[in-house]
Amino acid sequence: MDNFFLETSAGRRFFEAHSTFRGKIMANLFTPTQVGAYPLSHRVVLAPMTRLRTIQPGDIPSPMMADFYGQRSSDGGLVIIEGTSISLTARSYFGAASFYHDGQMDGWKAVADAVHAKGGRAFMQLIHGGRQSHVDMTGGATPLAPSVVPFEGVALTKDGWVPASPHRALEIDEIPGIIEDFRIAAQRAKDAGFDGVELHGANGYLVDQFIQDGTNTRTDAYGGPIERRVRFLREATEALISVWGADRVGVRVSPSGEWGGISDSNPDATFSHVAKVLDSYKVAYLHVIEPRIKGDSTLHEGHPPVASKSLRPFFSGSIIAAGGFDGDSANAIVAAGDADLVAFGRHFSSNPDLAYRLQHGLPLTPYVRDAFWGGSEENYSDFPTHQESQAKKDAVIA
Ligand SMILES: Cc1cc2nc3c(=O)[nH]c(=O)nc-3n(C[C@H](O)[C@H](O)[C@H](O)COP(=O)(O)O)c2cc1C
Repeated sequence: MDNFFLETSAGRRFFEAHSTFRGKIMANLFTPTQVGAYPLSHRVVLAPMTRLRTIQPGDIPSPMMADFYGQRSSDGGLVIIEGTSISLTARSYFGAASFYHDGQMDGWKAVADAVHAKGGRAFMQLIHGGRQSHVDMTGGATPLAPSVVPFEGVALTKDGWVPASPHRALEIDEIPGIIEDFRIAAQRAKDAGFDGVELHGANGYLVDQFIQDGTNTRTDAYGGPIERRVRFLREATEALISVWGADRVGVRVSPSGEWGGISDSNPDATFSHVAKVLDSYKVAYLHVIEPRIKGDSTLHEGHPPVASKSLRPFFSGSIIAAGGFDGDSANAIVAAGDADLVAFGRHFSSNPDLAYRLQHGLPLTPYVRDAFWGGSEENYSDFPTHQESQAKKDAVIA
């Protein structure tokens, strides 16, 4: 790198995207990169996945969770920890992760340690479920949202999947308390030894409910035009930055996503504004879910990725693309410069050594949907690496 342009992230991307004709290797999943404060040795990221394996009562992170994250960590690799509720009233799913009391500290430290033992970096995704909840999950409190807009979705309680409880609109003077909950959870993540935090601004949860006008019909400082609908996002992001610094904070969004009954009348304008706002904070990364995905499933089979590419012009830091990628399409989006890294969810669930397999063109173990939402170690933390399965096969042959 011998000139200033190439030392900027935009310049590096240009260089990488156009480097084949200089006889250099085009960027791919295994080209090192920098995400905020951290140099990474590859670009295969573990996407956040709620797997409902905490110990009850108290949402205590279990030893199998530490195993799961340790297995999926690698030297210079990034893992994003599942959606972790910032308070009792932020919870949506029985068995899901949260971090709002001291009894959870040791369990979370074990998770961070397991990632670090493999040389990986761990960002914890912080979430408030907003209207996607039920009074059995919030300690009896009515679920909160920017506005009251009927929601037909479900929440998961100890009695199983049930219709979400009716919600109420947040009073304006309650909002600073929720922002403070984000800050405290971010501090807890730091105290537990994580490397950063990701704000869950996607999938129709509280932050997204404020961003999109299908769920935000407020007329005060937090509603109306997009400049006001991003105020909650801004304040939550600032709270995380106040603890971590911008280079250790990421934000996840899902433009045109459909999980959580969310909608916007002009997603292009809304999310380009969101990307510009986040760019102005210089957050470590923007994590973008492709609209072909709805939550844990592919909704639009065969659709190409569009979201990262559309936000690229508005965000100069690292972009992590997610949703429906395999090795080839992930390499292609990185080579095209539309994303810098790719997060994998379902494939990573059943392939702890996903980066290694993709790098060496090895077959992938199919994922087991029945084990996604709760259960034991089985089909969670007992998937072998490719090398382990080979060793087993060799032992049988010998
Ligand atoms: C079981 C399961 C749980 C998930 N939980 C979360 C979550 O906690 N936070 C989140 O942002 N996305 C969550 N997702 C979405 C994934 O992060 C990812 O966007 C999705 O699986 C699409 O990527 P893929 O095609 O690589 O699987 C979840 C997905 C699955 C399969």
